[in-house]
Amino acid sequence: MSKESVIEDLDKVIGYIHSNDLSQNEKDLITNQTVDYFDNYVSPGWLKYRKSVSTNAAVVEWTDNGSYCYGINGEEFIDCLGGFGIYTCGHRNEEILATLKAQLEHQALHSQELLDPLRGYLAKAVADITPGDLKYCFFTNGGAEAVEMALKLARIATGGSWYISTVGAFHGKSMGAVSMGGKGTYRTPYVPLVQQVQHVEYGNAEDMRKVIRNLQTVGEKVAAVILEPIQGEAGVIVPPKGYLKEVRAICDEYKVALIFDEIQCGMGRTGTMWRCESEGVVPDIMTYGKAFGGGIMPITGLICRPHMWVQELVDNPWLLGSPTFGGNPLACSAALATIRYMLKEDIPKQCQEKGDYLIDKLKKLHQKYPTVIEDVRGIGLMLAVEFVTDEVGYSIAKSLFSQGVMTAGTLVNSKCIRFEPAAIITYEQIDQVIERMGKALQDTKEEYKL
Ligand SMILES: Cc1ncc(COP(=O)(O)O)c(C=O)c1O
Repeated sequence: MSKESVIEDLDKVIGYIHSNDLSQNEKDLITNQTVDYFDNYVSPGWLKYRKSVSTNAAVVEWTDNGSYCYGINGEEFIDCLGGFGIYTCGHRNEEILATLKAQLEHQALHSQELLDPLRGYLAKAVADITPGDLKYCFFTNGGAEAVEMALKLARIATGGSWYISTVGAFHGKSMGAVSMGGKGTYRTPYVPLVQQVQHVEYGNAEDMRKVIRNLQTVGEKVAAVILEPIQGEAGVIVPPKGYLKEVRAICDEYKVALIFDEIQCGMGRTGTMWRCESEGVVPDIMTYGKAFGGGIMPITGLICRPHMWVQELVDNPWLLGSPTFGGNPLACSAALATIRYMLKEDIPKQCQEKGDYLIDKLKKLHQKYPTVIEDVRGIGLMLAVEFVTDEVGYSIAKSLFSQGVMTAGTLVNSKCIRFEPAAIITYEQIDQVIERMGKALQDTKEEYKL
């Protein structure tokens, strides 16, 4: 394509971004081109997994606010998917957005040489709100990247090479993170992965102890245990009470670093700022992400206890990593505003109270439709509804979508649907979700003769 044509195309797209008043023709064109370009330039075959295309007419998202996502034609969705935990403070939270805009007015990215102050302020704030003596922070851009850094840090700090992870775990899809993953589907195409990984049953501390003891007995050194305090992607699996404490004791006994991946369950979602706080356990390394950027900026990271930041890292701080964009001023400003907002508005408490309200109503629906719903579980606003089959789950997700409620659930992955709405969702909105869910359940029960 000629340079002039590319510029002409980009003029149009940038015009759409600047426009406050798109015409219907423009909206139709954007919709059609989005479908076309996704298929032809993003990923062939991907669209069929999207309810927004595979149900009625394609819905292209254009704006969002509070508990809602909106399509380009004004279609309104109560967001119960919540970006899998991103939107704890809501969509485009005004306070966080205002701070971000103010930062953008004077600096976006950092020089990479001068001292960027917000990195320091954010690290101090994270240390202030995390349990025990968690202290040194390292900021990254995505969840998997934070996990990579945690894995490397554990190796450098302990001198060990083995990792213990759990069946069902999800820590991201980069090479190291997927090696820790506990699902064959994501791992198999990429084997051989990081070799020194053993997977044990989630929630079973004895299984973990046995594997570590056996490895040490045969002369291998274990670097870390990596765990989600509540497994998210696996379908909101809450381990038995006392499990995290027992794993902590095993790690202390065998001098293994304990990594908690709080990327999804942290930042207030389960009723405490961090899930590990609910059991009074302090890991050696903790990762965070998703809601950390306030639903506006991507920012993730890790925090570790002082003994993990070993002399080798003091001597060469770049050894762990030096991501160009990690902890940039824009992202840090959003995270700083997010932490303040969460503390001021007591977001963990809101998650707990609204989660209790929502799960109670979901459990009542379970009682009413036992042939459609198999289980309802979770804590705070990290909830899951498990259906009898994938097909039935997809029918519910599709019906909810057509009634203006967004949930996860694709054609091939709908048996268990997570509900992770914003903490600022109102009780009226929860009631609306439940009412629409009731209709979806009734229609599906009749259609599938359950
Ligand atoms: C617990 C956990 N860790 C890591 C990740 C990976 O994060 P990202 O998708 O930002 O790489 C996720 C994402 O769902 C997650 O839930």
